[in-house]
Amino acid sequence: MIRKYTFGNPFPTEAVVKEIPASQGTLPCFSMKDGSLVLTMEKDAPVYGLGEQVRGINKRGWLYTSNCTDDPHHLETTHSLYGAHNFLLIGGSEPFGIFIDYPGRLTFDIGYTQKDTLRITPEDWDLDIYVIQEEDGLLPSIVRSFRQLIGRSYIPPKWAFGYGQSRWGYKNEADVREVAAKYKEAGIPLDAIYLDIDYMERYEDFTVSEEKFPDLPALAADMKKEGIHLVPIIDAGVKIEDGYSVYEEGKAAGYFCKEEDGTDFVGAVWPGRAHFPDMLNPAARRWFGLKYKFLLDQGIDGFWNDMNEPAIFYSEKRLNKVFDEVASMKGQNLDLDKNDHLLGLVNTLANNPEDYRSFYHQPGGGLPRVRHDKVHNLYGYNMTRAAGEAFEELEPDKRILMFSRSSYIGMHRYGGIWQGDNLSWWSHLLMNVKMMPSLSMCGFLYTGADLAGFGADTTEDLVMRWLQFGIFTPLMRNHSAMGTREQEAYRFSNAKALGQIIGLRYCLLPYLYSEYMKAALNDDMLFQPLSFAYPDDALAAQVEDQILLGESLMLAPVYQQNATGRYVYLPEDMLCVTTSGPEDFRCQKMTAGHHYVPVAEEELIFFVRKGHLLPLAEAAKNVEELDASHLHVIAYPADTCCYTLYDDDGYGKDYEDPSHLSAIDVTADGGVRYEGSQERTIDICFICS
Ligand code: GLC
Repeated sequence: MIRKYTFGNPFPTEAVVKEIPASQGTLPCFSMKDGSLVLTMEKDAPVYGLGEQVRGINKRGWLYTSNCTDDPHHLETTHSLYGAHNFLLIGGSEPFGIFIDYPGRLTFDIGYTQKDTLRITPEDWDLDIYVIQEEDGLLPSIVRSFRQLIGRSYIPPKWAFGYGQSRWGYKNEADVREVAAKYKEAGIPLDAIYLDIDYMERYEDFTVSEEKFPDLPALAADMKKEGIHLVPIIDAGVKIEDGYSVYEEGKAAGYFCKEEDGTDFVGAVWPGRAHFPDMLNPAARRWFGLKYKFLLDQGIDGFWNDMNEPAIFYSEKRLNKVFDEVASMKGQNLDLDKNDHLLGLVNTLANNPEDYRSFYHQPGGGLPRVRHDKVHNLYGYNMTRAAGEAFEELEPDKRILMFSRSSYIGMHRYGGIWQGDNLSWWSHLLMNVKMMPSLSMCGFLYTGADLAGFGADTTEDLVMRWLQFGIFTPLMRNHSAMGTREQEAYRFSNAKALGQIIGLRYCLLPYLYSEYMKAALNDDMLFQPLSFAYPDDALAAQVEDQILLGESLMLAPVYQQNATGRYVYLPEDMLCVTTSGPEDFRCQKMTAGHHYVPVAEEELIFFVRKGHLLPLAEAAKNVEELDASHLHVIAYPADTCCYTLYDDDGYGKDYEDPSHLSAIDVTADGGVRYEGSQERTIDICFICS
């Protein structure tokens, strides 16, 4: 059951898709104190949720802020990343979910100030709160109910489940062709190459540099012949430059965010001075969205939206003030305080809260103009919505790949997200693991981190271990920053072994795609904490470095340098699968409890749950070449096990067509039964009896 409580005059975020009448009663469970919602949490009861955030799957013990921020320091002490996902699942004897639909800055003090006190504090009280309780009291039921409230998760094209290579540093067509050729030469599958900001003319959205990419359509077509899709980046800021059509049109139509006096707000991003399209204004949003056509027409069918918190390197007005003040300090003796002040002036130029309080949106529909900070967390959502709505108009029958850096709940209907500028740190690999279930709860199913790490120099073993986890994440992209060690798989001495791991992704694809589609279509989680499936197992609730993927698998990645194995906790008997590539699946039954499992550097392990099976395809060099008409099955039947496989052409939108579903039954004595309208042969690769 979902109850809605409205306070003040909320901004219509359009995060939810269901009409729920506002309840007249008082908010259950919480009390109001000093402008905060306050709840005494049951001792040791877990609190889940918050999507893209730092720390554990269980969020207790820290202060989190929903304030979409471009901050490349994803530290334990960080409070905000790029998204604002205000959904919590509060465990205990009567678990419930709470969604605070509030687009401004919001803090969640989950036992940080006072150990057992949860305190939720918005900046003002114009908001809607949804409280979700389910009769069965089960966490997955509460999440499903929340997900039904916020609408179906975005569904990408099937090719977007293939492996992608990216780097901020591919400067021209030759670089792109070289990456494709080197992957091919190394025999490593590849489905996408990403174009970062260098493909543009002077960092101008919806332009292509004639010098660096003289014939993008030809390049895109050549790449498609190899099964590779080019995926360009789009940034939020529009360069101010006379004669640049996007700037000229936006200015003439009044589509940019405005200062209080009605002039266009000037902030700087990659191109220097820029304006920010008013993504909250429906006309501006449609105008910006339709601009993607420029690239769609050149053979592009995927995009990533960036810098849409929005990131602001500096505002024109602040920069001028800082220059004046710095000039006035010239010649002075800078003691500690003055030196700190000087550094502070420069260091607070970027993403300054005062700047966010100084410009406005015109949301249309009779709504008054609204100051940006009040709706800050909606910007990236609406940039991505701009594209999503335009794709519906431009390509109604085709799925287009879209993922964003910044997000708010609601955006999950229009695109996925990547997890931003992580570092090539082992701890960030673990953070990637922990974030997956939290994101699933909030509807962000198409997601993944920059594999092998974005900033800082990676190491060969980190590339290996991170890819070994990345083969399970829907977005599987290796991306790195300019100036860091190059990390394409073919560059390392273990390239062959890395290629085998990437190859495994394609074997797993029928299962991953099937589980993804079922999760999206049924509003279920793709990744779950163990405690969701084993609610009566107190130890399962303690496990933060193993997660469930779909109905059949438990993942237990190795995330420590030099580790040649790891401890694993099994809530029930499971089948441990050790593999180093498509030709190598070693299966061993393991009993419930604790185990130390050896996992050599070029190997990974995963577990098949009892009563479940895993369909596997044969290796392929890209998604298009994947043959799902012949599957091998690893099965751990209780008596029997039955799997519902979802498969479709990967491009169309007729998701509900029953012909996409088929059934695979395996009995304990090795009998296999397949039922479905798609022709398919199934054989047993391993059966655990
Ligand atoms: C931002 C993005 C990163 C990208 C870079 C250059 O830092 O998060 O992925 O490579 O900008 O565009």
